[in-house]
Amino acid sequence: MFPKTVVTTSLEPDSVVQERARWWAETLKCPLIPRNRDLESSRALNRVAETTNADVIIVVGRKATRLLVGEQEFHFHPSMAKLRVQALARGQVDQLISAGGIDQGSSFLDCTLGLAADAIVASYVAGSSGKVVGLESQALLAALAEEGLHNYADGDRQLLEAMGRIKVVHTQAESYLTRLPDETFDVVYFDPMFRHTRKKSPAMDILRLLGNPTPLSGEVVREALRVARYRVVVKEGRGCRVFEELGISRIVGGKYSPVAYGVLDK
Ligand SMILES: C[S@@+](CC[C@H](N)C(=O)[O-])C[C@H]1O[C@@H](n2cnc3c(N)ncnc32)[C@H](O)[C@@H]1O
Repeated sequence: MFPKTVVTTSLEPDSVVQERARWWAETLKCPLIPRNRDLESSRALNRVAETTNADVIIVVGRKATRLLVGEQEFHFHPSMAKLRVQALARGQVDQLISAGGIDQGSSFLDCTLGLAADAIVASYVAGSSGKVVGLESQALLAALAEEGLHNYADGDRQLLEAMGRIKVVHTQAESYLTRLPDETFDVVYFDPMFRHTRKKSPAMDILRLLGNPTPLSGEVVREALRVARYRVVVKEGRGCRVFEELGISRIVGGKYSPVAYGVLDK
């Protein structure tokens, strides 16, 4: 069920913050609660939660947008993507890039965008001649990725450019794929919610809380193979039976890594 969400701002928002708050409220079709220093009911964020009965409060600020869910707080961060891009720049191997055979100019469709760490790494390698599109079924996560990818400012130029090139689409992967012609993207990728708990991290916490938990079906993987020019890649926990269930036998990934990439070549 979609959580009850309201949007508000940091105290004394400038016009840019107010504009972004309006964008969030329109995108999520939810109320925008003005923050008022003099009004007790909107001054403290916990009073906003009490008066609106919201499960999620989105607080748009000058530097970042925070998502408050109960006691927990989240914001967009390129997290692991930053480290993986740095490692690639040092000439190290990235398992997703190897599994997908992603290169400069590649086109990459990420069917399970989440907070876009994998898509950022793919976009960095594909470069400005490539194309990366990310699909996310959950409106809150799609909006967080959309805003974060295009407004995050703390990183080197190549990382920020890679983030800015990603096109975010709020949609179910299943319906998007069926509308695409054959061989539209070089690589089609899935990183569904793990059936078994993955390592704890702030990025995983928010995905566990707000992400779409539907497991990957054989039907959507077949559709993805039609849309892919070269291959479909699926990320899963090492040792999970998902690859077997989906008929994927080529597995890429370090022997000691908790995750593995299953590859279906055309
Ligand atoms: C494990 S997360 C992906 C994490 C991502 N690879 C990253 O690097 O941040 C899976 C995401 O896919 C989304 N998702 C799951 N099923 C989907 C579907 N059928 N269509 C679109 N998005 C989906 C979930 O809501 C969640 O945000």
